[in-house]
Amino acid sequence: MQPSSVASSYEFNTVASLINQPNGAAKIAELCSQLGISRPLVVTDKGLMATGLIERFTRPLHTAGFPICVFDDVVADPPVDVVEQAVQRAQMHHIDGVIGVGGGSSLDVAKLIAVVCGTEMALKDIIGVDKVIGKRLPLILAPTTAGTGSEATPIAIVTTGSTTKAGIVARQLYADIALLDASLTEGLPAAITAATGIDAMVHAIEAFTSAIHKNPYSDMLAHNALRLLSRNIVAATQHGENTLARQAMLLGAFQAGQAFANAPVGAVHALAYPLGGRFHIPHGLSNALVLIEVMRFNLESCAPLYAELAASFDLNTARKTPREIAECVIDTIDNLIQSLPLTRRLSALGVSENDLAMLADDAMLQTRLLVNNPRSVNFDDALAIYKKVL
Ligand SMILES: NC(=O)c1ccc[n+]([C@@H]2O[C@H](COP(=O)([O-])OP(=O)(O)OC[C@H]3O[C@@H](n4cnc5c(N)ncnc54)[C@H](O)[C@@H]3O)[C@@H](O)[C@H]2O)c1
Ligand SMILES: [Fe+2]
Repeated sequence: MQPSSVASSYEFNTVASLINQPNGAAKIAELCSQLGISRPLVVTDKGLMATGLIERFTRPLHTAGFPICVFDDVVADPPVDVVEQAVQRAQMHHIDGVIGVGGGSSLDVAKLIAVVCGTEMALKDIIGVDKVIGKRLPLILAPTTAGTGSEATPIAIVTTGSTTKAGIVARQLYADIALLDASLTEGLPAAITAATGIDAMVHAIEAFTSAIHKNPYSDMLAHNALRLLSRNIVAATQHGENTLARQAMLLGAFQAGQAFANAPVGAVHALAYPLGGRFHIPHGLSNALVLIEVMRFNLESCAPLYAELAASFDLNTARKTPREIAECVIDTIDNLIQSLPLTRRLSALGVSENDLAMLADDAMLQTRLLVNNPRSVNFDDALAIYKKVL
């Protein structure tokens, strides 16, 4: 089989430092000192506060004599005013560094606090691509879901209206340290483990087929991420306390994040976002719902690339054409999703046939993502995909 064509010139950026260590949270005070943080702000949500996990950070900080401020008002798909409240709190307490602990929502808010407090720019002025001028505050990100890869990306997503989201993309959003500590994910409920894990797999798949910025570094990371995620997602979902599986999921999600930070995602995400915006279906589940049908649609344009992914799933490819191997890859992912506790039909989540045109219209607005898809997607294509998963 021919290797996929890759850009001969490319740029690859990522976070400065990765700490991959179960119970790594115990060294948070040392990490703050390394970064020159003396007044840290811990950013999280109420759900995580209720688990007691935040004490893994606050206790060692307290013991080491750091004054601690916690902002725990992050909500899923954080709206702009939550970020603004967090910034006010941070400024009131004169914080000089930010520790984000949680899923993508908490990590995204942590990134934005560090940028807004460090640069003194207004949030509204940094929405978009490369709008940030100046330096952010020191930033440590510790994911508690193995999904979004936010700890590895220069992206933060905020909700700007009742159904609209906007992205802030800038180099300053890369953290100083990504801390992958499996002990933080051991209590993550099975359904969230499964959905966020599929989100991470989608990042790897879409980075590998990214139409514009596909590059050899992202490819290598996407392959490795898919291997780690596909081999561990069932164990992590069924046996949450399995530290090895949890750590592998965190590393896989991180590597998928590194990959798509440089080779951006496409139509799976473009069709998933309207499901989150209109029906509040969680991001990972939205991706899981449309993934297989988008892959089947893309087959016509990228069967050889999907076929290359067979290596990450250890599939037997002997005496098969690239198209047959690609179909085998899609069936393997489909079977994997079927084995997880995930809803497979939009109708089970309150979506009706009458809603599909609105969803397809919204998907068409995701031009930033659709340009990365290996096959161009029009309104009728999007509508047909939604119909298949109704
Ligand atoms: N920055 C990026 O690159 C990027 C990429 C994709 C998505 N996102 C954004 O990330 C957000 C979604 O993030 P998410 O899917 O991680 O969900 P999330 O952060 O919204 O968290 C989902 C739920 O899981 C709970 N939770 C998290 N960790 C837990 C744990 N260890 N134990 C028990 N409960 C736990 C939280 O309390 C919350 O109720 C969206 O806002 C999305 O737009 C960002
Ligand atoms: Fe995603």
